[in-house]
Amino acid sequence: MSDTHISLEDIASLAKRRGFIYQGSEIYGGLAGTWDYGPLGVALKRNIVNAWWKFFVDSRDDMYGVDSAILMNPKVWQASGHVAGFTDPLIEDVKTKKRYRLDHLLEDAGVDIKGMDLAAMTAAVKDKGLKSPDGNELGNPASFNLLFETSMGAVEGEKSTIYLRGETAQGMFVNFKNIVDSFYPDLPFGIAQIGKAFRNEISPRDFIFRTREFEIMEFEYFINPTTWEAEFEKWRGLMHDWCNSLGLPAEKVHELEVPAEDRAHYSKRTIDFEFDFPFGKKELYGLAYRTDFDLTNHQNASGKNLEYRPKDGSAPFVPHVIEPTFGVDRTLMAVLCNAYSEDEQNGEKRVFLKLPKDLAPVKACVSPLLKNKPELVSKAREVYSMLKKELGAVMWDDNGNIGKRYRRQDEIGTPACITIDFETIEGDGTVTLRDRDTAEQKRVKIDELLPHL
Ligand code: GAP
Repeated sequence: MSDTHISLEDIASLAKRRGFIYQGSEIYGGLAGTWDYGPLGVALKRNIVNAWWKFFVDSRDDMYGVDSAILMNPKVWQASGHVAGFTDPLIEDVKTKKRYRLDHLLEDAGVDIKGMDLAAMTAAVKDKGLKSPDGNELGNPASFNLLFETSMGAVEGEKSTIYLRGETAQGMFVNFKNIVDSFYPDLPFGIAQIGKAFRNEISPRDFIFRTREFEIMEFEYFINPTTWEAEFEKWRGLMHDWCNSLGLPAEKVHELEVPAEDRAHYSKRTIDFEFDFPFGKKELYGLAYRTDFDLTNHQNASGKNLEYRPKDGSAPFVPHVIEPTFGVDRTLMAVLCNAYSEDEQNGEKRVFLKLPKDLAPVKACVSPLLKNKPELVSKAREVYSMLKKELGAVMWDDNGNIGKRYRRQDEIGTPACITIDFETIEGDGTVTLRDRDTAEQKRVKIDELLPHL
């Protein structure tokens, strides 16, 4: 069945109902731009993150992992240009004093804002006679810094302002020298990290698509500048391979060459990888050529030599950087949207998540046909323990009738359901193995279950 009719509400409501994602601080009415992952969401997220680490770090011999502190010396963010340049355009409703993202207002009004600077956007507001969502006049736009500020130190008056990190990348740049000193890597090599980032987004929206606290998987790939174009192409291809490994169809992943005016302050070339979300084609990932912008700025600001000394004795230089970056939450959202499916089974509508097996939060569910028959229950427990030992994420379900149990597992994307019935204990020792996508059932010997799963 086509998925064009699927809405964000369908995804969000399933995610809440089945324990993937809840609103942050929900019992207090929530906190805008924050979401909490429930048991199944955590499992799905962990599977994604582990798959990414395996794909880009463990399976390669040119990648070094780090886990740097979220709180960093504020000089890092001054040198990186984030204090001055990490901004979004804001505009104020003159009556209510509410502030809005100017680019979002224009996009919502059907204006193509690609390549527009603040002055061009201001002109477009005038041209269109744009009003605030409350119907009032809009004031003059201004740039708004996205870094979250907090203060460090216990003594009032002696506290210093520090920032929650706006990207994980700076943790890799400030550890460049440490990695070189500890491991003497050959160039090119990468430093990878997965972790939380924080942005004071003015209009968090679209469920977990734009939030104030989110997770990034990214790496800085240090290169000789003469090779940047070839390296850029290499990572571009590998990013598509990664999307493919997640089961995201190539026709739903698009590239956008970001024009110079829209690129981040550090980038000489950026390609956005966009995905067809239910609310439109939106950025999923980014690939940027950050040049030597960060290392050179940190070298100048810290006074530490951040050059790379080639092993062949040629002249030292500050390496350039290619940066593939991947939002964890957006990955999870793309995977969920892509997996969400509906069909009809026995005349009834069925919702199921067609998740790739290695990403599914639960790998298999084991049930006794009837829960009041001890001989069925004990055999089912035996099978459950055996599978749990091997696969870990196996669920037990003996609630309601078997059809309801299948539906529950379909909705959370469990690839296989195993039912222990009278034929198992009185007949040939086989169990029913049901497939999530086709709903087909077949009889399988217990000791042949594992290869099937
Ligand atoms: N170090 C580069 C960097 O941080 P970015 O494009 O600003 O680049 C990286 O962010 C990725 O993080 C994006 O491609 C997107 O997947 C995700 N992302 C960015 N802002 C986000 C937000 N407010 N909420 C959720 N994910 C976000």
